[in-house]
Amino acid sequence: MTKKLYPERTFLRKIEKIGVAIEGAVNRFAKSDFNPFYHLGTLTIFMLIVLIATGTYLTIIYRPGADVAYATVEKISSTWYGSLIRSVHRYASDAMIILIILHLVRMFIGDRFWGQRWLAWTSGWIMLAMTWLAGTFGYWMVWDQRAQWMTEFMMQNIAGSSGLTYISTDLASRTFSNFVIILFLHVFVPIITFFFINIHSLHLSRARWWTPRWAALQALVGLIVLSLFKPAMSYAPADLSAMVGSVPIDSFYLALLPLADTWGNVIFWGLAILTAGSLFLLPWLAPGRDAGPAIVTDPKCTGCVLCYNECPYDAIRMVERDDDSGYPKLAVINPKLCTACGICVGSCPVDAIHLKGGYSGEQTFGVVKGALKRELKDGNPVTVMFTNQRTHTLGGLPEKLGVGGAESRVGVTSWDGSDAKIVTAMLPSIGAVNIDWVKTLQSEGARDIVLLSHPYRDSPNREDSHWILNRLHLRPALVTKGLHWLEATPNDPKPVEKFLDELHTEEFQKNKSAPSLPRIKDHNRLVPSLVGGLVGTVLLLGLFALALPLDIPAGMSAAEESALRIAVDAKGKVDVANIPEGVVLPEGADPEKIFGGVHFPMSIRVVIDGETVFDEVFKPSGVGGNGRISALEFLQVESGAHFVEVFIKDDTNEFRNVFSDEVEFDKGQVWALVYNEKTDTFELR
Ligand code: HEM
Ligand code: SF4
Ligand code: SF4
Repeated sequence: MTKKLYPERTFLRKIEKIGVAIEGAVNRFAKSDFNPFYHLGTLTIFMLIVLIATGTYLTIIYRPGADVAYATVEKISSTWYGSLIRSVHRYASDAMIILIILHLVRMFIGDRFWGQRWLAWTSGWIMLAMTWLAGTFGYWMVWDQRAQWMTEFMMQNIAGSSGLTYISTDLASRTFSNFVIILFLHVFVPIITFFFINIHSLHLSRARWWTPRWAALQALVGLIVLSLFKPAMSYAPADLSAMVGSVPIDSFYLALLPLADTWGNVIFWGLAILTAGSLFLLPWLAPGRDAGPAIVTDPKCTGCVLCYNECPYDAIRMVERDDDSGYPKLAVINPKLCTACGICVGSCPVDAIHLKGGYSGEQTFGVVKGALKRELKDGNPVTVMFTNQRTHTLGGLPEKLGVGGAESRVGVTSWDGSDAKIVTAMLPSIGAVNIDWVKTLQSEGARDIVLLSHPYRDSPNREDSHWILNRLHLRPALVTKGLHWLEATPNDPKPVEKFLDELHTEEFQKNKSAPSLPRIKDHNRLVPSLVGGLVGTVLLLGLFALALPLDIPAGMSAAEESALRIAVDAKGKVDVANIPEGVVLPEGADPEKIFGGVHFPMSIRVVIDGETVFDEVFKPSGVGGNGRISALEFLQVESGAHFVEVFIKDDTNEFRNVFSDEVEFDKGQVWALVYNEKTDTFELR
């Protein structure tokens, strides 16, 4: 069965058209080398480099610890260069998320998430999660009110009693180690991202890591302008004895968290895991169909390695050959890595490769040649145009060219106002054009040959236009005045129509000359026009500036009230010591220390103004029931003076009173009642 050369998914194609139209709008001013939308992946890597460079400076000055962190961040901001470095660091972290999301969306709407791309897709999600984690840690390190909000959020929603670190008696030493861990992760996670970038590109040949020089410069200018316009600032220092009223939080890193408050943990995390899991598994949940994989007809293959050199997806191996063909090597395709781009079909000088799903270069060219002969016999000048199915699917071919579905990959039509005929052939990609076709068509009498490509950097298979251009650069004798190279955004038929109109005028025919083909090497040496450079810079600046209005306010839901935290971190009392049978311990020995033991649970009851507001039982941790007992509870209390009593029961005796006092709650104040096991009392802090 003949399969489509470009996946047919109506909905995705509709969105892809919108995406391509936006890219096309930038192409009007900038060549594809300077269009940031074509460099989203490499720009992300560039952001990571900026983050590591600026982060190195920040780490040198920064000191971890609840008592010093805030002050050192303020110190960084106190010089103009420190403030600039801090701000570039902050905006680069937002820019990275924005770029990853755009890159992800581009891959999704361009149907580049299934088949061999599963590895790039899944590793991409892991990198997104890592970036999110590292950035979130970064906000935490400042230890201002935003960090406090995150800590409160964590204590109340995610990590439960692990927030005890911030309340416990030996606070300073415990929070210091927390700070060190967070600092370590904040620095370490981005570094291992480089390892993941390596995995991300494992299924690619010649993976690109470096963004073109000008695109990088545009991004850097964007970051600096934004940093000067609105330098990154801390909010008031964190103070766990006061509620966080309202503090702006970064939408790209933290915005979803307040939803956990609104929806509750089960719904929020359930939905988050379901959505992220489905997206992660999309390559298997929604695989597309293509005309692949490529197949080599062994007897024809001469082992010339051209296909091996050109495959952008590392899908071809050259293996030793010991049959009687006389050739030492044979090309072998790994179907699991093939994306059916057809570049190898175009590269093969002996037509030894075709696509299993029904595309053969030899057959397609046979139809083109047949059409050419017929039209020439009728005395018509003939233009042969090669294009690819993506351009057709996205609406980039004038309708009157008469190419359609899989069954009519070659169409013949007359062009208005001229006696010329146009033979249009639709290929899997422009890289599937065999260079010998150009030679044959020229010798058989085609007046013009048009190679219609998408913009050079837009290649849906990474290197589609690169390889046909490379073949032409290597055979300059074929680049005659009858050959035309046309790059057009694939959703826009107008430039194609305009070009064909012009091509078929007498004047054009009289004055035509050999085209100067775009260069394929040293793209870094290309310089954008002033307008092109500006458009790229403003576009990136605009994208990065999304970080500004999207700082949304967040605060603690009870900010208008006061609160009481109950914190317990105790060993508890032993119910049964695990003394093995027959063992007699020397006098004074603690059996629990030697053999462990089962602890009593601890019941805590809080009574305010005579009314029980809290009554719960906390079990000892650990499988054997011999771990510590931890509790961290947050109780909302109306502002004003209240009589607070706390009772606990952690053995067979009745509840005992461990705190009773009149406590004055100012508006927004948070008191902590921390259990001290040694004195068996709750201390108010
Ligand atoms: C830190 C985050 C990321 C970085 C630095 C990054 C970088 C890159 C780069 C540089 C490329 C192009 C390689 C080349 O053509 O030579 C690429 C390709 C790709 N990326 Fe990412 N990426 C990231 C995240 C993601 C995410 C989140 C996804 C999707 C979930 C994704 C999906 C892909 C896919 C499918 C390709 C293959 C494209 C193709 O076959 O044409 N990436 N990435
Ligand atoms: S069709 Fe493309 S991906 Fe598949 S083997 Fe050929 S060049 Fe490689
Ligand atoms: S290009 Fe053709 S002949 Fe050369 S190695 Fe590949 S399949 Fe064989």
